[in-house]
Parts: sequence; structure tokens; C-alpha cells
Amino acid sequence: MLSFSECKSKIDQEISKLTFHDNKPDELYQPIAYILGLGGKRIRPVLTLLACELFTDNSDAAVHPALAVEIFHNFTLLHDDIMDKAPMRRNNPTVHHKWNENIAILSGDAMNIIAYQHLCRTKTEFIPELIDIFSKVAIEICEGQQLDMNFETRTDVTLPEYLEMIRLKTAVLLATSLKIGAICGGADEKAKEKLYLFGLNLGLAFQVQDDLLDTFGTEAEFGKSIGGDIAACKKTFLYLKALEIAPKEQRQTLKKFYNDTSITRSDKISGVLNMFNELRIKEIASEMVAYYTNAAMRALDEVMVQKPKDELKSLAYLIMNRKA
Ligand code: IPE
Ligand code: IPE
Ligand code: MG
Ligand code: MG
Ligand code: MG
Repeated sequence: MLSFSECKSKIDQEISKLTFHDNKPDELYQPIAYILGLGGKRIRPVLTLLACELFTDNSDAAVHPALAVEIFHNFTLLHDDIMDKAPMRRNNPTVHHKWNENIAILSGDAMNIIAYQHLCRTKTEFIPELIDIFSKVAIEICEGQQLDMNFETRTDVTLPEYLEMIRLKTAVLLATSLKIGAICGGADEKAKEKLYLFGLNLGLAFQVQDDLLDTFGTEAEFGKSIGGDIAACKKTFLYLKALEIAPKEQRQTLKKFYNDTSITRSDKISGVLNMFNELRIKEIASEMVAYYTNAAMRALDEVMVQKPKDELKSLAYLIMNRKA
């Protein structure tokens, strides 16, 4: 059975074999080679391989579907960075900053299709179900991303609405990555569903941690510019929890300040940070990450397989404690 780091090496190696930089026109393919070449944690394709290995000794059938997941994820990042006006990703300029928005849109579109090509490079018997769940998750991510955008200009977003938004924009892709691996490994329905549930909770933990790092992380480690969520009035876990626990007067101040688009970026970030610190929001968010990680572990315990699940467990704890 491959370890987490062996799976990551395998994925990195497979990605380095993709020869987008040779394709023409350059403006379409260079950004694809660029974003995939910048690395990233490769969490989703690793989940696919590890899930597959729970059910079979040879995870070869899952390699291309795993690449599909990573290429698709990178496509969503290209479009997400335009939507979020983000200048930096993986410690480098975002594609729309390095080139322009039209290029990031079209390269992203091509990656979406290339992802499907890889998804279908597996045993024929798996393909219909893979296409079915991949298409489902692709639509769900669009739904989540639209909710995320709608929430920027809404001031009455609730925590349950937030949880549904992050389920759609982030968690379902982690869950589906695992399910894809399970399908390629020949798992039964029950195991597929329990792994999906594991991934769903892991994904919720993952996005709350992402929110946390966007405000409390360091740029060098996180690789994205800090404070972007505050600047864009994103309805993050940090903000919504702060509203929930703040005394009435402070709640009103925070709400007004957070949604004010006329304040300069640095003033807004430092002002919000002060309020978050007073309310100990970082600690509360960390507890939430641990809560969803524990829920994930319980789902994983219910996946009935002979093989050890240690690598998936340690990956979950790694995600919980990540700084990048
Ligand atoms: C970023 O995903 C997008 C979110 C869902 C928060 P990752 O944090 O997995 O990004 P990379 O691929 O490791 O750069
Ligand atoms: C991203 O959420 C979700 C998708 C890319 C679908 P974020 O907007 O928080 O991700 P980052 O922080 O830019 O990576
Ligand atoms: Mg973003
Ligand atoms: Mg976003
Ligand atoms: Mg984020």
C-alpha cells in the first residue's frame, strides 16, 4: 500500500509527464502548464489513490481519474481567482494577473474538458458512474461558488447557509475524490458512501481551516495574500461566528465595518482582526476544524475494509493542522 507521500510523488510525477507546454496556441496552454507546475498539496488526487488502495493492491486504474480531479480542481482555482480578485496563489501570481482574465477563463475551460478526458482513461466498466458523479460535483461547485459570490453583498447570511455554501464549493470535491478512488478499486455501495461521508466532513474542516488561514495565516506559508476574504466581505466562518457571539453593540459595529467597501484594505483588515482577536475567533474556528475532523474519523471507522486506514487518518490530521 502506498503512503501519503508516495501517492503525492506519483501524482507529481504523472503531472510532470503532461506536455501542455508543447501545445499551441501558447496563450491557451502555457497557463495550464504554469498552474499545474506550481505544485499545490495534491490532496484530492492523493485521496483518490488512497481510497482505491483500500480495495485493491494495484491503484493503476485510479491514476488518470485522480489526475482528472487535480486538473479539475486547478480549473476551479483559475476561475475562483478571477471571481475573488486574488493576485497570488501558491506563492506566485495568479493566471489572470500574469496573463489576463480572458486567458484564465479559456485555459480554465480547456482544463475542465481535459479533466473529463483523464476521467475516462480507466476500465470501461467504471466510466458511466464516474462521469455521473463527476458531472454532479462539477455542478455543485458552481452552485457553491455562486452562493459564495451572492453572500459578499448580503448582510443576513446565517451559519447554516454558510455550511451549505462550503459543502458545495469545497467539501463535495474532497468527498467525490474519495468515491472515485473507491469506484476504481471496486468497492461496494456502503463503503463508497462512508468514504464520501468521510470526505464531506474532511472538506468542511478543510474550508473552515482555509477561512482561518486567510486571516490568521502567514503569506509565505499560505501562498495567498492574507486578508482577501475580509477585503471582499466574504461571509466566512470567522465573521459569522464573531457576529453570533459578539455583544449587541459590538455586533452592529462589526457588521457595519465588515461590509463597508469604502474603507482602505489595510485599515479594514487590521480593524476586523482586532475585533476577531477580542472575541477569540481563531480558537473557536480551530475547535470547529477539530469537530469536523472528528466527525470525518467516525465515518472512516465505518468503512469496512481489511486494509489499514492509517494513511487516510494521518492525512486528515495533517489537514487539520495545516498552515498551507
Ligand atoms: C484551495 O485548495 C481551494 C479551496 C477549496 C480552499 P487547496 O488548499 O487544496 O489548494 P492547493 O491545490 O493545495 O494549492
Ligand atoms: C474556493 O474557495 C473554492 C473553489 C475554488 C471552488 P476560496 O475562494 O476560499 O479558495 P481560495 O482561498 O481562493 O483558495
Ligand atoms: Mg478564492
Ligand atoms: Mg472563492
Ligand atoms: Mg479561501
